[in-house]
Amino acid sequence: MYNLKSSVAALVLLGQGISAQNSSFQNSSSSWDHSLYTSSPGVFPSPNTTGIGWEDALQKAKDWVAQLTLEEKVAVLTGEPKGPCIGNIAPITRVGFPGLCLQDGPLSIRQATYASVFPAGIAAASSWDRDLIRQRGEYLGAEFRGKGAHVALGPVAGPLGRSADAGRGWEGFSPDPYLTGIAMKETIEAMQESGVQACAKHWIGNEQETQRNPGLSPTNKTIEAVSANIDDRTMHELYMWPFADAVKAGVASMMCSYNRLNGSYACQNSKAINGLLKEELGFQGYVMSDWGATHGGVANAEAGMDMDMPGTITFFKAGTSYWGQNLTNAVNNGTVPESRIDDAAHRIMTPYFFLGQDQDYPLIDPTSGPINILGIQPYLDTFQYGEANVDVRSNHADLIRKLGSAGTVLLKNSNNALPLNKPKNIAVFGNDAADPENGLYSLSLTSNGDFEYGHLAVGGGSGTGRLTYLSTPLDALKARTKQDGTLLQWNLNNTLLTDSTPGAAFGAIYPYPDTCIVTIKTWAAEGYDKVNLLPDWNGTAVVEAVAGWCNNTIVVTHTSGPIVMPWADHPNVTAILVAHFQGEQSGNSLVDVLYGDVNPSAKLPYTIAYNESDYAFARITNSTELKLTEDPNAWQADFEEGLLIDYRHYDYYNLSVQYEFGYGLSYTDFSLSDVKIERLAPSNLTARPAAAATVPGGNPTLYDTLYEITVKVKNTGSLAGDAVPQLYLSQPVDASFGRTPTQVLRGFEKVALAAGQTRTVTFPLMRRDLSFWDAVQQQWIIPSGNFGVRAGFSSRDIQVTSGFKVL
Ligand SMILES: *[C@@H]1O[C@H](CO)[C@@H](O)[C@H](O)[C@H]1NC(C)=O
Ligand SMILES: *[C@@H]1O[C@H](CO)[C@@H](O)[C@H](O)[C@H]1NC(C)=O
Ligand SMILES: *[C@@H]1O[C@H](CO)[C@@H](O)[C@H](O)[C@H]1NC(C)=O
Ligand SMILES: *[C@@H]1O[C@H](CO)[C@@H](O)[C@H](O)[C@H]1NC(C)=O
Ligand SMILES: *[C@@H]1O[C@H](CO)[C@@H](O)[C@H](O)[C@H]1NC(C)=O
Ligand SMILES: *[C@@H]1O[C@H](CO)[C@@H](O)[C@H](O)[C@H]1NC(C)=O
Ligand SMILES: *[C@@H]1O[C@H](CO)[C@@H](O)[C@H](O)[C@H]1NC(C)=O
Ligand SMILES: *[C@@H]1O[C@H](CO)[C@@H](O)[C@H](O)[C@H]1NC(C)=O
Ligand SMILES: *[C@@H]1O[C@H](CO)[C@@H](O)[C@H](O)[C@H]1NC(C)=O
Ligand SMILES: *[C@@H]1O[C@H](CO)[C@@H](O)[C@H](O)[C@H]1NC(C)=O
Ligand SMILES: *[C@@H]1O[C@H](CO)[C@@H](O)[C@H](O)[C@H]1NC(C)=O
Ligand SMILES: *[C@@H]1O[C@H](CO)[C@@H](O)[C@H](O)[C@H]1NC(C)=O
Repeated sequence: MYNLKSSVAALVLLGQGISAQNSSFQNSSSSWDHSLYTSSPGVFPSPNTTGIGWEDALQKAKDWVAQLTLEEKVAVLTGEPKGPCIGNIAPITRVGFPGLCLQDGPLSIRQATYASVFPAGIAAASSWDRDLIRQRGEYLGAEFRGKGAHVALGPVAGPLGRSADAGRGWEGFSPDPYLTGIAMKETIEAMQESGVQACAKHWIGNEQETQRNPGLSPTNKTIEAVSANIDDRTMHELYMWPFADAVKAGVASMMCSYNRLNGSYACQNSKAINGLLKEELGFQGYVMSDWGATHGGVANAEAGMDMDMPGTITFFKAGTSYWGQNLTNAVNNGTVPESRIDDAAHRIMTPYFFLGQDQDYPLIDPTSGPINILGIQPYLDTFQYGEANVDVRSNHADLIRKLGSAGTVLLKNSNNALPLNKPKNIAVFGNDAADPENGLYSLSLTSNGDFEYGHLAVGGGSGTGRLTYLSTPLDALKARTKQDGTLLQWNLNNTLLTDSTPGAAFGAIYPYPDTCIVTIKTWAAEGYDKVNLLPDWNGTAVVEAVAGWCNNTIVVTHTSGPIVMPWADHPNVTAILVAHFQGEQSGNSLVDVLYGDVNPSAKLPYTIAYNESDYAFARITNSTELKLTEDPNAWQADFEEGLLIDYRHYDYYNLSVQYEFGYGLSYTDFSLSDVKIERLAPSNLTARPAAAATVPGGNPTLYDTLYEITVKVKNTGSLAGDAVPQLYLSQPVDASFGRTPTQVLRGFEKVALAAGQTRTVTFPLMRRDLSFWDAVQQQWIIPSGNFGVRAGFSSRDIQVTSGFKVL
C-alpha cells in the first residue's frame, strides 16, 4: 500500500472507508467483524497550527520561517543523518540556526556519558506518586538540556500495555490509561519546565514489536507491518486517553509509530494524525516519524506528519529520503501545497521559541552520541559543539534511590519476614544479584543472550541508558549487612541452583541461612516481544529450588512487566518484592525497603494473573504461518477485546487473579472510611459537553470538574507510611455500546501518614472521567443511570462504596 507512487491516488485509497466512522469504528462488541477495520477514513486537509497557548512563539516561528527558501524549510522538516545525535535537523548557518538535536530516550539521555539512569516508566508508575514522577521528569529534562539536546524522545504512552508480552511495555507506565495519563502529564510538564522539548510516543496502536516494520517473505516479497485494528470507542477510552493528557500538558512533539492502524501506516494515517490528533485533540506541536516509519513521502505530508526521521529511506544508509529533495519536488510540481510545508515548519519551530531554545541553549556535548546508530560519518561540519563529557547528574541519584524504593511493590509478607531485623545470616541466590558480566551499557537489541550474570536495572534498545555506576543488590547488601555484623553468602549460578544432584546447589552455603534472598529477572528490549511470561534463566526453578530448602525465602523480581509466579503461594516463600527496572540506584532502593528504612508503598500498575493462559485474550499477534506468509497484508492484530485489557478483563469475566491491579503491601496498616460525594455540576448539566473552541486536549469542558469524592484514610498501625487510596468508578451500562468495564480507575493519591494519623483525600471527577465515547455521535457522552463509587486500596480491596446519578 505504501508503495503507491501517485500521491493523489494513494491518498484517496488510503483515505477510503467512508462507513468506517459509524459501522466499523462503533462497537467494542463481542462479535468482531474484521472486515470493518481494514480501512481508515481520510481526513484532509491537514489543519494549520493556531498556536493556542503559544501565540507569541508561533509569531516568532512564522517570522523566522518566512525568511527561508523552500529548500531550507524542507530541511527543517527532514532529518540529517550525518549528525551527532540520534535525530538531527541540520544547522542553517545563513540564518544562524544551530539545528536541532534529538536524543533517546524515556529514562536517560541514552548514549551520553556522565548522565543519570532513572527508573523505567513502569517502575516510576508503580510508585503512584505524582510528585516523584514529576521530579523525575524535571531532572530528565535538565540532563537533556545540559547535554545540548533540544528534544527528548519520551515519555511513552504507546505501547500502553495491551499485551503482557510486548517488548517495550516497561518504557511506558501502565496499561491503565488514567494512571498513564497522569504520569504523562507530570513528566511532560516538568521536562518542558526544564527547557527541553518532550516527545510523546508512539502514536498509535504500537502494542507489539513483532512485525512492527514491513519485512520480506521467503521469496523476498514485501510483507507489510502488523495492522492494529482498533474500534473507535476503544481508541478514545484506552489508547488515545493518555495522549490527550500529553497534548493538554502542552507536549512539543509526538512520534508516529511503525505499525499500521486500521490498514494504513500510522505515519500516513490521516484519520489518526489530522483527525484525532490535530483536529479533535487540538495538538499544536509537530509529529515526527519513528526512525524509518515513513513509507509514502507525499502521503505522509498530507496525512499531517511534520518531520521525517532520521531522514533516510534505508535505515543505515544516508543519501535518500522520501522527503528532502523529493518533498521539494512535490511542492514544485504542485502535488503538496507549500502551506503544508510552512505549517510543519511553524509547528516545529514554535516549541523551540516557546521554550527559549533560541537563547543561551547549551551546545551539543560531543560525547552524548558516540555510537551513532546510523553509522554515517563524517558529520556535517556545520554542527557546533560545546564541552565534552559534561556531568549532568547533579544530585539526581537521591531521587533515583527514593523513587526506586517508592516504586518497589511488596506483594507478600508472611511470618514477619520483612523488614529485616539484624539477620544473622543472609544468603543471596540468582544471577540477577551482582555486576553485569559485560559492562554497564546494554545497547543490545537482541536478547538476554549476553546477559546471564548481572543485575538488570534497565532494558535494551532505544529506551536504555548508559550507566556510570550501578548499585547492585549484592553491593548494597554488602554495605548494609556490615552494620549488623551479618554473615552474607551467595550463589549466583542458576544452573547450579537448579541442578537436582543432592547438595549441588547449597553445598557451599554454611551455616544454614535464616534469610534467603532470591533475585530473578526478565530482559526486554525494543524490537523483540517476550516469548513467555516466565523469568529468564530458569528463574522459576531457581525460586522453587531455594524455597524447597529454605523456609524464609524472599523473592525479588527485576522484570519488564508481569511474570507468572507459580511459587507465590509456596509456604516457604515468605516475601515477594517486585522491583522492575530501577536504574542506577537499584540495589540501594531495594535494601532501603528490605530493612524498613523505607516503608513500602508501591502498587502494581498491572495485574499478575495465575497462568500464562490467563493472558491469552490479548497476546501479541504471531505465528509460524505468519512468519512464512506470502500475503503482504497477512499481519492483522484485531483488538477484539476492546476496552477489556488488564484488570478490565479479569473484572468483567469475574476471574480470580494472583495479585490484582493497584495491589501492594506496607509495613503498617490503613483504613478508609467516610466516603462523601459533592456535586459541583449545575443541575441542568447535559449529557453532551457544550460546544467550545478546541484547545490542546480537545473540548475544554471535558476537563471541567463535575464531582468531588472525598474519603478519610487512617494509618491504623504503629509505623509511619504512605497509603495510596484509589477511586474506581462503575459507569451505568448501556449494552448497545458493547462491553463496558465493570470499573475503571478515576482517582488516586499518595498520602503520607504518621502512625495514628488520619487525612481526608479528595478525588476530583472531570466530565471526561464520567463519559464514554459514543462512536455514532462522535462525542463524549455522560450516561444516565447510577454511577458506582468504589474506594479502596487496590482494584479488589474496595473498602467503601457509594453512588450518584449525574443526569
Ligand atoms: C455517522 O452517523 C451519523 C448519524 O447516524 C451521521 O450523521 C454521520 O454523517 C455519519 N458519519 C459518517 C462518517 O458516516
Ligand atoms: C493554512 O494556512 C495557509 C496560509 O494562510 C492557507 O493558505 C491554507 O489554506 C491553510 N490550510 C488550512 C488547512 O486551513
Ligand atoms: C532474498 O534476498 C536475499 C538478499 O538479497 C538473497 O540472499 C536471497 O537469495 C533472496 N531469496 C530469494 C528466495 O530470492
Ligand atoms: C525519492 O524517493 C524515492 C522513493 O520514492 C527514492 O527512491 C529516491 O531515492 C528519493 N530521492 C531522493 C533524492 O532522496
Ligand atoms: C511530484 O513530485 C513527487 C515527488 O518527487 C512525485 O512523487 C510525484 O509523482 C510528482 N507528481 C507529478 C504530477 O509530477
Ligand atoms: C555454573 O554452574 C554450572 C553447573 O555446575 C557450571 O557448568 C558453570 O561453569 C557455572 N558457571 C559459572 C560462571 O561458574
Ligand atoms: C530448569 O530447571 C529445571 C529444574 O531443575 C531443570 O530440569 C531444567 O533442565 C532447567 N532448564 C534449563 C533451561 O536450564
Ligand atoms: C520448606 O523448607 C523446609 C526447610 O526449612 C523444608 O523441609 C520443606 O520441605 C519446605 N517446604 C516445601 C513445601 O518445600
Ligand atoms: C525454619 O527452619 C529453621 C531451621 O530448620 C527452623 O529453626 C525454624 O523454626 C523454621 N521456621 C519456620 C517458620 O518453620
Ligand atoms: C513468533 O513466532 C515464531 C515462529 O513460530 C517464533 O519463532 C517466535 O519465537 C515467536 N515470537 C514471539 C515473540 O513469540
Ligand atoms: C444551566 O443553568 C445556568 C443557570 O443556572 C445557565 O446559565 C446555563 O445556561 C444553563 N445551561 C444549559 C445548558 O441550559
Ligand atoms: C454492540 O454490541 C452489542 C453486544 O454485542 C450488541 O448487542 C449491540 O447491538 C451492538 N450495537 C450496535 C449499534 O452495533
